[in-house]
Amino acid sequence: MLGNFVYANPTKLFFGDEAQKNLAKALMPFGKKVLLTYGGGSIKRNGVYDDVISALKSAGKEVVELPGVMPNPTVEKLNEGIKVARENNVDFILAVGGGSTIDYAKAVSVSAWYNGDAWQRFWVKQEDPTPGERIIPVGAVLTMAGTGSEMNGGSVITNHAARMKIGKVFGVDVMPKFAVLNPKYTFSLPQRQMVAGIFDTMSHILEQYFSGDDDSTSDYLAEGLMRSVIASSRVAVKNPEDYEARSNLMWSATWALNTLIGEGKPQDWMVHMIGQAIGAYTDATHGMTLSGVSVAYYRHIMRYGLKRFVRFAEVIWGVIPEGKTDEQIASEGIDALESWIKEIGAASEITSLGVTPDMLDRIADSTIILTGGYQTLDHAEIVDILRNSL
Ligand code: NZQ
Ligand code: ZN
Repeated sequence: MLGNFVYANPTKLFFGDEAQKNLAKALMPFGKKVLLTYGGGSIKRNGVYDDVISALKSAGKEVVELPGVMPNPTVEKLNEGIKVARENNVDFILAVGGGSTIDYAKAVSVSAWYNGDAWQRFWVKQEDPTPGERIIPVGAVLTMAGTGSEMNGGSVITNHAARMKIGKVFGVDVMPKFAVLNPKYTFSLPQRQMVAGIFDTMSHILEQYFSGDDDSTSDYLAEGLMRSVIASSRVAVKNPEDYEARSNLMWSATWALNTLIGEGKPQDWMVHMIGQAIGAYTDATHGMTLSGVSVAYYRHIMRYGLKRFVRFAEVIWGVIPEGKTDEQIASEGIDALESWIKEIGAASEITSLGVTPDMLDRIADSTIILTGGYQTLDHAEIVDILRNSL
């Protein structure tokens, strides 16, 4: 039975191959001074930067640039952003990039006017901003599909010194006011990043699908999204400039993690917790950490949520049930997931991401254990899953 929930999503989306034409108008209501934040320079090579600057100009904005947001943004970079945002007293933050840049903009948005240690408060202690606290509004121009950051409150920050990579889900005040989604902006992504984004999307759906055993609309929505992601991934890996496939992948990624398909049901998220702990040790690409551990993780918990794994095998992968036990059917579903991971070129193990056997115990120590899935893991089980992922 669906649990009770409140659903609100304030992010206005502009989607399509001319979506950027809406940017100047979308920026209008948000004050004079804009902090423009972006990553390591891809937007200067693919022309997105020029589109954004011309929109900012025609909206009459004064621009302060904050480049250099790295994949898996760090607490040191956050502290730099806090300083820049405060010193310039910016009215708005425009993030142009993938999940890292958008997550970063949200982090700066809530932290800029807080006088204490923002990392401790929002990420370690998971506090929320208090009502009336100053939050700088954020907007996004998305260049990489996968995280869903363009339409959610998530913000993941890495603290290498503490060996922690922690996500905080903020409320509607921190979610982007708008997001520009032009699938053509993703054409310049290196194939490996495109694939990482595809698996990230799939993992977001799986984290919300493998939980509960009731009949829930949310799970049917999840199945539809998964089928679309798989179909489009097969086209996009062969022809990355296939607009139909790339636009479907972008749209699916947004809906996979804007809270819709998780409403009214428990959620798992342990693949992400293990993946983030791997990220804290290796700084590996987010989507690859997830594909690297998913097969071992799902083989481990399959027995606790067998009915759902049978459904996954039949509905998503077309496994024929006749003459097979539930265990066989479920297992064939996970085999199919594994084959797809290999087919699209996502990581199917974690050794290539820099994980060595001597790290497993410490990675398990850094893994935050959640309770929403079919089985609450202990330390030894996490080590086992990691070992089976090597
Ligand atoms: O920095 P630039 O030069 O822009 O290059 C980036 C970066 O190297 C490049 N890139 C992005 N768009 C491009 C492009 N290169 C060429 N053409 C383009 N159009 O791709 C690289 C990766 O970008 P990044 O933003 O790091 O990737 P992603 O979107 O996967 O974001 C990863 C971060 O998001 C967090 C992850 O943990 C990680 O820190 N997540 C955020 C979530 C959320 N907000 O809800 C949920 C996710 O589960 C995830 O944890
Ligand atoms: Zn993710």
